Amino acid sequence: MSAAGMIPPVRHFLNIADLSADVLQGIMQGARTRKDARAGWPKGKVDEDRPLDGHLLALVFEKPSTRTRVSFDAAMRQLGGQTTILNAGELQLGRGETIGDTAKVLSAYTDGIMMRTFEQAKLDELAAQASVPVINGLTDSGHPCQLMADVLTLEEQRGGVAGQTIAWSGDGNNMANSWIEGAARFGYRLRLACPQGLEPDARIMRQAQADGADITLTDDPQAAVEGADCVVADTWVSMGDADAADRHNLLRPYQVDKALMALATRDAVFMHCLPAHRGEEVTAEVIDGPQSVVFAQAANRVHAQKGVLLWCLGQ
Ligand code: CP
Ligand code: NVA
Repeated sequence: MSAAGMIPPVRHFLNIADLSADVLQGIMQGARTRKDARAGWPKGKVDEDRPLDGHLLALVFEKPSTRTRVSFDAAMRQLGGQTTILNAGELQLGRGETIGDTAKVLSAYTDGIMMRTFEQAKLDELAAQASVPVINGLTDSGHPCQLMADVLTLEEQRGGVAGQTIAWSGDGNNMANSWIEGAARFGYRLRLACPQGLEPDARIMRQAQADGADITLTDDPQAAVEGADCVVADTWVSMGDADAADRHNLLRPYQVDKALMALATRDAVFMHCLPAHRGEEVTAEVIDGPQSVVFAQAANRVHAQKGVLLWCLGQ
């Protein structure tokens, strides 16, 4: 066998649907192990085994970010690696350099590239041209790193995810798409309520259902939330959405308020990937109330991404 034939394929993390349930469970196990091992440690302390010592991750942002930016930075440092944070407007990418040339150059300097961008096709092109792992830090079509943190949080809150009923109320956006892909891999039931015209990606729905996911789509938020173990909301206007006024009108009936939460099980949790808009997709009473686990989700971004980084960049 030639030396080239022995090079393992590059491990990209682009969509939940690209990975098998076994791979995703392995990533989750890595996240849990690292989280448990760090209990009580200062946040800046490096894990003693430094598994990503000598590794540099580029973080490329074409949209704003608080959680993704800082949680990847913290995760890399805690694993012994380093990051370089690149706002696309400050790169030649922002002046028209191609994504392919950017991929090849960054592959020469770094051990991995996380990118937050608009079209999924741009991320796919980056992955196709890069010789290092590429991680999806959010596109218009999905947010798989957030989904991993959400599944970790749900496991901790509910003792497992398989068989849990998750209700989504709102825009059928990138986050909804990742919840849909996750249903096929993690075995939770998903009940989506979205207004007509703002349904999730039909191709992603069809694929998840073909993969055995238990998913229903309605335009009735009460029907979706009835008896759910977890209620999920996200912003009505995602980064890059132009039609804000129309969206507010269409989505107002989908606000998660106390009355809607009351239709879920008594011990249901409320989830939101943040940033949130109190008084729009969720009332302050719900997001700041006892059922909300939104800050546990945010904290779990660090741990879940460690699982992803170890799978992509580790041995
Ligand atoms: N949830 C999330 O991805 O947050 P940021 O946009 O702040 O990264
Ligand atoms: N759907 C939101 C998620 C933000 C983390 C957006 O894309 O803006």
